[in-house]
Amino acid sequence: MHDRTRALMARGNAFLGSDYAILGGAMSWVSERHLVSAISNAGGFGVIACGAMTPALLDAEIAATRALTGGGSGRPFGVNLITMHPALFELIGVCAAHGVGHVVLAGGIPPKGSIEALKDAGARVICIPPTLALARKYLRSGADALVIEGSEAGGHIGPVSTSVLAQEFLPALGREALIFVAGGIGRGEAIASYLEMGAAGVQLGTRFACAAESIAHPAFKRAFFRASAREAVASVQVDPRLPVIPVRALRNKGTEEFTAKQIEVARLLDAGAVDMAAAQLEIEHFWAGALRRAVIDGDVENGSLMAGQSVGMVTREEPVATIIATLIAECETALAGRLAA
Ligand SMILES: Cc1cc2nc3c(=O)[nH]c(=O)nc-3n(C[C@H](O)[C@H](O)[C@H](O)COP(=O)(O)O)c2cc1C
Repeated sequence: MHDRTRALMARGNAFLGSDYAILGGAMSWVSERHLVSAISNAGGFGVIACGAMTPALLDAEIAATRALTGGGSGRPFGVNLITMHPALFELIGVCAAHGVGHVVLAGGIPPKGSIEALKDAGARVICIPPTLALARKYLRSGADALVIEGSEAGGHIGPVSTSVLAQEFLPALGREALIFVAGGIGRGEAIASYLEMGAAGVQLGTRFACAAESIAHPAFKRAFFRASAREAVASVQVDPRLPVIPVRALRNKGTEEFTAKQIEVARLLDAGAVDMAAAQLEIEHFWAGALRRAVIDGDVENGSLMAGQSVGMVTREEPVATIIATLIAECETALAGRLAA
């Protein structure tokens, strides 16, 4: 069963300790103990989103996830830390205290000493490079694997599509480095293609956000089931001085509020009331709050419905195990078809 897929995923599985080299991309508010453990228990690799957590909350979340994944020698899972989090080094300390095996450093260039601190604690470090030059730099600095994430993805995005990133990174680095491809993957046929191009595995977020085990509010899930790819739009930057990272989300009133928020923050910048770093943090707080409103409170009008373009392939609530089984079956059928041709 699924022999070709397993063979192509072997490197990724050996690195993650999983049955399938499928990372559940960390999603703030969504990727907590229930979804993360469900992904890991189904043979994938769940990742806790620490974006909006304090060290104490992360501590509790890791302990709870470990309990749900069979304890110390149970199924593996990882933690996603945002590099601009003010308490980054404390959060690294929490991961170290729990012996977390894999940490994803997301959201910008990892600050000096962060990769080293994680490696000293015995963790494997996964970075998300936006360019090939930075990928090489991260690998030289000790990163053990990379995620390349294209602009089709949900949440904060870069400017380049997954298909172009895959062509830039996989032929150049795919043999010597472990590269997981993310952004816009909704079906196993796409997984097959990236594995054949040299990926060690893949990372999916949107496809898992509405799983039965996801704590996302029923209204949030309904919005996903109804949406098509073209409704998952990237936010617009209104002031060229304020370098806001674009966010892909379903279009709603919250999208307009973000435009208003940017104007408000730009005015504060003009008045000298905040500096650039504070302005950017203000924007990030806006997103964290808006996403919480949609995911937890179910306010799908004003909250942020972060979603990738693969949202059109999310049509009903299914258990994670069913989603993974479907992806693997599609991948295997695609690979088998190539051999038969
Ligand atoms: C609702 C939502 C929240 C997200 N939050 C985060 C986050 O906190 N940290 C992060 O590194 N990526 C975040 N992402 C990106 C995912 O980890 C993943 O890379 C992405 O969803 C993959 O693309 P896809 O949505 O097309 O599957 C988020 C994505 C979504 C849809």
